Amino acid sequence: MLFPATRMRRLRRSTAMRSLVRETHLRPSQLIYPLFICPGEGVRKPIGSMPGVFNLSIDEALKEAAECVELGIGGLLLFGLPESKDETGSGAYADDGIVQQALRAFKANRALDPLVLIADVCLCEYTSHGHCGVLVHERGEVHVHNDQSLPLLARAAASLAAAGADIVAPSDMMDGRVAAMREALDVAGHHDTPIMSYAAKFASAFYGPFREAADSTPQEGDRRGYQMDSANGREAMREIEGDIAEGADMLLMKPAGPYLDIIRAARDRFDLPMGAYQVSGEYSMLHAAFERGWLDRDRAMLESLLGIRRAGADFIVTYFAKDAARLLG
Ligand code: PBG
Repeated sequence: MLFPATRMRRLRRSTAMRSLVRETHLRPSQLIYPLFICPGEGVRKPIGSMPGVFNLSIDEALKEAAECVELGIGGLLLFGLPESKDETGSGAYADDGIVQQALRAFKANRALDPLVLIADVCLCEYTSHGHCGVLVHERGEVHVHNDQSLPLLARAAASLAAAGADIVAPSDMMDGRVAAMREALDVAGHHDTPIMSYAAKFASAFYGPFREAADSTPQEGDRRGYQMDSANGREAMREIEGDIAEGADMLLMKPAGPYLDIIRAARDRFDLPMGAYQVSGEYSMLHAAFERGWLDRDRAMLESLLGIRRAGADFIVTYFAKDAARLLG
């Protein structure tokens, strides 16, 4: 008997052969690029912990968006840095809020039509205390009030849809926000605006650099009272079920790299389109290694994204979107 009968290497012999049997593909249209919009003109402020990522004024953001169209990127996820903040995060639902203004400018530019414009819906960038909802003092304790936060988040979603958001993406993790937003959107006539729920969002150390980029670090305490415990996979499935029941059209898992098992479990269980967010810390961590020459930049970047696709994500929100799209051609 000849040995071994099964030789896996037969199908790895050439680039063409490997390409023929490749199971997972990464395309620029599956990538979504996050933008941090700030007031002013001609502003392009680097974010120290995220090389290559900037706070951009609307005029600069328009240039960035045009580049994304050029590269065939699927969409943008917009975050705002308001001029001023207050207790209830009113900048999140102001008609002339920073992201609302950006959306109107983007929508006025037909050359940007190939991009799906996704508006993150949260209060944390807009509240003076940096929490994702309304803070209340009860029985000598401070906490984020779930039900008082819902109308404000719903208002933010409707206001962003009115300004031109193609999708609204709640990232606050209040219970009942998807239903509250669906109702507010429908009442305002935005029946056709989908909700992409950050259904399983974990309280993660990997959001650190984002909080520098979006200036959204809680002044006191942390987000463990509303974001999920990293240890819990079954609870993530319950979160997703709940959001689907409330009317979510799409799901977003977050972070991605350290939670690939959650992405896979969700993919096996639910049929909604699902994205994953390779968050700021995942980007910064890889970048730090690239800068030291410890990892091959292009290969490690694509491998990190391919892993997320292989785990089951249909699309990926990533700060590498432009660099990856350039490589993928
Ligand atoms: C807002 C929000 C956060 C991120 C996306 N939306 C920060 C947080 O929850 O603290 C993090 C994204 C990233 O780290 O890249 N709630």
